Amino acid sequence: EIPTAGYASFDKLHVALEYVKSVKPPMVIKANGLAEGKGVVVAQTQVDAERAVRKMLENRAFGEAGTIVVIEEYLQGEEASFIAMVDGTNILPLASSQDHKTRDDGDKGPNTGGMGAICPVNILTTDELLEVKNHMDKVVKKLNYKGVLYAGLMKTKDKVYFLEFNCRFGDPEAQVILNLLDSNLLDIMNDCIEGNDLTVKWKNSYAATVVLSHVDYPIKKLKEVVNISYTNDFDNSVKIYNSNVIEAGQYQYTNGGRVLSMVSIDKTLQIALENIYNNIHKIQYKGVYYRRDIGCNNILEK
Ligand code: GLY
Repeated sequence: EIPTAGYASFDKLHVALEYVKSVKPPMVIKANGLAEGKGVVVAQTQVDAERAVRKMLENRAFGEAGTIVVIEEYLQGEEASFIAMVDGTNILPLASSQDHKTRDDGDKGPNTGGMGAICPVNILTTDELLEVKNHMDKVVKKLNYKGVLYAGLMKTKDKVYFLEFNCRFGDPEAQVILNLLDSNLLDIMNDCIEGNDLTVKWKNSYAATVVLSHVDYPIKKLKEVVNISYTNDFDNSVKIYNSNVIEAGQYQYTNGGRVLSMVSIDKTLQIALENIYNNIHKIQYKGVYYRRDIGCNNILEK
């Protein structure tokens, strides 16, 4: 009963390839298991789709995660992340946020684990939020699930679809959501376990995060490490979270992937983003890469 994209799943290469030929691109190819955020390919052509299917089912690029491949209808729209704390029965929605999943500006390039996020956002209307919550209620009650429930959503011109569920905070969404929390997270977790009333307070601010990756992400990691340098002092409007940073004494290195993130919290989203983009050049390493348009759509709409 959960609205998702139309899909079919395959474990046999020749059947999957036949199916690809019958579908008008674009289409979405997904590995059925965990693939570090890289198991989703939005194939714009049949050649790309065939390549993705072969990579998963023939070359086993994602190991066990790719023994079943899901081929989904492509949904065009705006993505939103709906993350809630749940106690087995009730749902406490956290502030809504938006990740930026593709690697390049203008929502182009390959899918990644996430290149930046903003919070709060008002992509969904009150009615749509209620509808999403009602669907999540069904999942929670059916599974008697307690913990964090993350729904990745796509709002198309027709309706809101569920792209995925995760049992964790999103990354980079957690970096913005938790920075706006004005309640004690541990208390909320305990309330979920013990079935107490779930409540949360929020700071009256906006948060943004921009991920610094290596230019080869998400295609490959580096064979050797590169040195990370900080050319200047940051002003105190930003903070840094490390992802793939290797510390050795006073030096820091990385072998690529998503390396670190720069986060800012301020009274408007625009100021938070300006803080980040005014400081981000102060971090340098060979192959440093980041999107330059995180949150732009949201600001331009206003
Ligand atoms: N940002 C997407 C995820 O954590 O799955």
